[in-house]
Amino acid sequence: MAARTETGRPSSESFLVAFHRAHPGCTSEAFARGRIDGGGSSYHLLADVVPAAPGGARVLDLGCGDGHLLELLTARGLPPSALAGIDLSGEELDRGRARRALSASALVQCRAQELPFAAGSFHAVLSHLAFMLMDDIEEVVEEVVRVLAPEGTFATVVGGGPKVGDSFELFLDLLAPIRRRVGSPTPRLGDRRCLREEGLHELLGRAAGFEGPPRIDDFAVDLRGTADAVWRTLSTIYEMHELPADARAELHGRFVPAALALSDDGVTVPCSMFVRRVVATRR
Ligand SMILES: C[S@@+](CC[C@H](N)C(=O)[O-])C[C@H]1O[C@@H](n2cnc3c(N)ncnc32)[C@H](O)[C@@H]1O
Repeated sequence: MAARTETGRPSSESFLVAFHRAHPGCTSEAFARGRIDGGGSSYHLLADVVPAAPGGARVLDLGCGDGHLLELLTARGLPPSALAGIDLSGEELDRGRARRALSASALVQCRAQELPFAAGSFHAVLSHLAFMLMDDIEEVVEEVVRVLAPEGTFATVVGGGPKVGDSFELFLDLLAPIRRRVGSPTPRLGDRRCLREEGLHELLGRAAGFEGPPRIDDFAVDLRGTADAVWRTLSTIYEMHELPADARAELHGRFVPAALALSDDGVTVPCSMFVRRVVATRR
């Protein structure tokens, strides 16, 4: 059970709410421009596994943020009224509601551990870079199994860390001593099992209500760009929240020249992050 604040909310959830109030839309800004093998983004990895269903699949996005994935599904022809998203953050959901493509979709502020949907409501439950942040993960899995129809698909993209030798690793290496010096309010987020193969097998296997072990595939997301673009992407990671302005400026001053030194053409900075797609089928 996660540590709680005096309101009863896990402290990690209070952190996430505060962070996304300050930076709504930051995940899609960073990752919609990411590319996998020169093709689509990491959001496409999830859109690609939505099962076909007569009249269009009913899909729920857990931790939907600003609705980027849901809008991508409407662009692929899924009826907006068949799409739903939930998130802890009111500010993220407001951005989703501002998307015209989602005006007929249900965007609900709630915890993934307590879903306000009837049993068997969805053909697919998706979660992009959110499932791995959730506390009380067994409760989330129980809810996913409950709201999925038999043979429905649960698919999540979880983060897998930086590629050795490029600017994301450099950024984390420069940030670590600064955070140790100034202190950091970032709590431990999510359940480590979501990041390990054995942990995912334990969470999403037969005992939890799925057909068998989940299918797991790893991908590198190419987030290369100018030093400015890469800084914008990396400087909204959770570990940067409430970093004092002078510490931020110090990091920026060290990062930009060192990142440019990694560039082949003096302009484009290499930046990659590994992600893992996990797909499980409900029994
Ligand atoms: C890194 S963001 C990803 C947002 C979106 N899926 C995307 O990729 O653009 C993680 C999101 O998960 C949400 N979240 C984390 N834990 C949650 C929970 N227990 N219930 C609902 N939403 C949660 C956060 O509020 C945040 O918007």
